[in-house]
Amino acid sequence: MKVVKNVLQMQKIALKHLQNGDEIGLVPTMGALHEGHVSLFLKSKRNDDITIVSMFVNPMQFGPNEDYLKYPRPIEKDLEICEKNHVDYVFVPPANDMFPQGYETFVEVKFLQDVLCGLFRPIHFRGVATVIVKLLNVSYANRAYFGMKDFQQFKIIEKMAKDLNFKTKIIPCPIVRERSGLAISSRNCYLSADEKNASRNIFKILKEALQDFKNKDLNLVKRNAVSKLKKIMNSKIDYAEIVNFNDLLIADKATKKAVFAIAIWIGKTRLLDNIVMIK
Ligand code: PAF
Repeated sequence: MKVVKNVLQMQKIALKHLQNGDEIGLVPTMGALHEGHVSLFLKSKRNDDITIVSMFVNPMQFGPNEDYLKYPRPIEKDLEICEKNHVDYVFVPPANDMFPQGYETFVEVKFLQDVLCGLFRPIHFRGVATVIVKLLNVSYANRAYFGMKDFQQFKIIEKMAKDLNFKTKIIPCPIVRERSGLAISSRNCYLSADEKNASRNIFKILKEALQDFKNKDLNLVKRNAVSKLKKIMNSKIDYAEIVNFNDLLIADKATKKAVFAIAIWIGKTRLLDNIVMIK
């Protein structure tokens, strides 16, 4: 495994692999790796000749009062995880190499970026889309892997790749959960033991909503779920919405495939989760 800390060097290495006919897989991460990330590495290992994992806490996707400085950066442990899973390259660029002084170019995916999380984190998806374009250009990836816990992020990147005719295939990967049902996230480390215990109810509530989806009015499904979410210890809901799977518009009677997407604070930790609902 090679650790690459420089943008041009990474691009040169990736280009060489491309010219040798290797298929390249990119797993973009912000580090603080967990089983969810490992599932993406393993998928790339199965599909691609070369797996590149980027670990970059992207300043562009954090708002002014968010956790950019506090975001966990356990670099040694992360490198061990990559090594153990036979990652070929770990790309860890410094922020000033990715976005040097005078950087002026941004990518926006209208509408999809403005709903759900976009209402609470207005610059977030612009930062995500921009860094992903850069990482794809640096890695020459044939495939890039994203976890479905960040469902809106996945839809935005998928749309961007389609609209801009990227050659990279954007691959969705299932949510990985703890045995309790809690979706695994780098931010779970912020939760206290009690909060973690309480957070397991989120998935339980989503599964109950899924049962209701087939028979009940959507407003009722949502109302029932919201009233249960509000009872979780120290919770504050940013949103809990049932939206169409493809365009993220609020689902209605005609919707056949929907996603119930939730962003909820448990104490000082913001958690995302979702469940796909098919009629
Ligand atoms: O999901 C993440 O970890 C980040 O948003 C990503 C995709 C690596 C972009 O910085």
